[in-house]
Amino acid sequence: MEDLEFHFENKNFVVVGASSGLGRRIALDLAQSGAKVLAVGRNKQRLEAVESEFPDKIFPVSLDVLNAEDGDWESILSEFVSEYGKFHGAVYTAGITGVSAIRSYDKQLAKSIVDTSLWGMINFLHMISKKKYAEKKSSYVSFASVAAHCGNKGFFAYSAAKGAVISAVRSIAKEISREGHRINSISPGWVQTEMTDGAEGAQAEGFGRYLLGIGRPEDVSGMALFLLSDAARWITGTDIVIDGGFVLGKH
Ligand SMILES: NC(=O)c1ccc[n+]([C@@H]2O[C@H](COP(=O)([O-])OP(=O)(O)OC[C@H]3O[C@@H](n4cnc5c(N)ncnc54)[C@H](OP(=O)(O)O)[C@@H]3O)[C@@H](O)[C@H]2O)c1
Repeated sequence: MEDLEFHFENKNFVVVGASSGLGRRIALDLAQSGAKVLAVGRNKQRLEAVESEFPDKIFPVSLDVLNAEDGDWESILSEFVSEYGKFHGAVYTAGITGVSAIRSYDKQLAKSIVDTSLWGMINFLHMISKKKYAEKKSSYVSFASVAAHCGNKGFFAYSAAKGAVISAVRSIAKEISREGHRINSISPGWVQTEMTDGAEGAQAEGFGRYLLGIGRPEDVSGMALFLLSDAARWITGTDIVIDGGFVLGKH
């Protein structure tokens, strides 16, 4: 990270989706800023690679959010909390994408897309926001997408899932403000990660709309850290678009 420094010493966070892309960058930047990070994803090898960069700060746990029961979250969260203390917040980046055109779509894939971005997030927030795991004034960040704002053609499931994330965040923000907690979402445009790797050809036409070009994980990570920090203490229930000018477009 350049210019702006965050100080998260003695703070603990969960990053769900830490094995790859945006979640990995956020987990590494949090650790670099002094935080302890419970790094959740499915791919054990990639999680261990993230851990190897900050072995005393990053604690990997392999979990599939599609199958995770409350009890699975309970054991993961309580084990960490008994060792290091409660969490000051979390970032939920887990998500998958895939083509879903209304004229022909794979029902199972469309459901998995919604389940991963929306229901995985809801189940996780249900657990992490419990008093036994959450420090007062915790901050949560969820990942939506410009697809929620523009409606990506042929991607109704992904666009709908991300629209639902934004709406759920607004409602949850009202509920958890009682405990002084905050929650916001981030809607990135096209960022070069494992998710978008190899799909550039199909989107090349759309790249022309990016006033500032397409993004890198570090172009988004700083906003996630800012939202987790006390500097964002008056920001809740909002969606922040980070898209190099894509939604604005060139015309
Ligand atoms: N990249 C973009 O252009 C872009 C644009 C807009 C929005 N977003 C959103 O930003 C978020 C991060 O995207 P990304 O580009 O960083 O994607 P990515 O590189 O594919 O990373 C996705 C992460 O989600 C995890 N994940 C997926 N399904 C999971 C499951 N069932 N259980 C547990 N973990 C699961 C993956 O873990 P494993 O690999 O270990 O399974 C991985 O760590 C997503 O919500 C995405 O929709 C991305």
